[in-house]
Amino acid sequence: MGTFAVTGSASGMGAATAAVLTDAGHTVIGVDLHDAEVIADLGTAEGRRTAIEAIVEISGGTLDGVAAIAGVGPNLPDAAAVLSINHFGPVTLLNGLRPALERSGAGRAVVIGSNSATTVPLIDDHLVELALAGDEDAAREHARAAQSAMPQEILDFAPSIAAYASSKFALARWVRRTAVTPEWARRGVLLNAIAPGAVLTPLMLGSTGNGADLNADEFPTPMPLGVFGRPEDIAFWVHQFLRPEARFTTGAVLYVDGGTDAAMRPDSQ
Ligand code: NAI
Repeated sequence: MGTFAVTGSASGMGAATAAVLTDAGHTVIGVDLHDAEVIADLGTAEGRRTAIEAIVEISGGTLDGVAAIAGVGPNLPDAAAVLSINHFGPVTLLNGLRPALERSGAGRAVVIGSNSATTVPLIDDHLVELALAGDEDAAREHARAAQSAMPQEILDFAPSIAAYASSKFALARWVRRTAVTPEWARRGVLLNAIAPGAVLTPLMLGSTGNGADLNADEFPTPMPLGVFGRPEDIAFWVHQFLRPEARFTTGAVLYVDGGTDAAMRPDSQ
């Protein structure tokens, strides 16, 4: 049985992934702001350092997989925090844990992006460039400046929607660029992304309701299957990517979104 680190393990997709792995008999090292084996704020450099050190210590330095799931949504008011948590959190953590994944001989890493990266028409190219250059301070500053110049109607819809979509766009691009480098690919560490659509978790639902009263056909983006996703729908695919048998896929971005991306960009392939 393997040892897996799962960030965002206290809620939603992370909790569902931790449950699937535990049920399969694996050891799970959960990382979150609360209710986890490792308590760390992945939105800060210090929190990421703490998380990497603790995971390496608990695992004994060898990891079979990492599922970098922790993240926030577009409703968080601080656009800079969205970028730090959603982009720099997973990227720094995975770079720090890559050696531990290599030691297993069949290391697997999965990040959770979003179909917002391809379906929200607000990607900030400069923000993406700064994120991919690894310049967190400049990216944070730019995210706040761009947010303050945003039309009020967009801010009213979701205050950090542009930073959110851009953080996930940059993350998917980082996965594709990084997965094929010799440091990852030739050392047997496979790196893939899942791009969920609307999934009924506390992130999507806020503090009230369980989503039973929501109608997928009234959602702002098309939902061809007519239903919202459940955390388990994402955990299923995370688990597939983490298996040692998943040995010929790297740099992929898998849409698990009820068909939204295909409906909005049918001819993009
Ligand atoms: P959730 O809110 O249920 O779970 C997210 C978990 O991440 C929480 O336990 C939270 O405490 C943790 N977290 C947040 N900030 C953190 C930080 N700074 N350090 C450590 N842990 C932190 O949300 P959900 O929906 O399960 O989200 C999982 C991922 O899926 C996120 O990356 C989110 O952006 C992404 N996503 C969610 C969608 C949805 O419709 N729910 C759609 C597309 C992407």
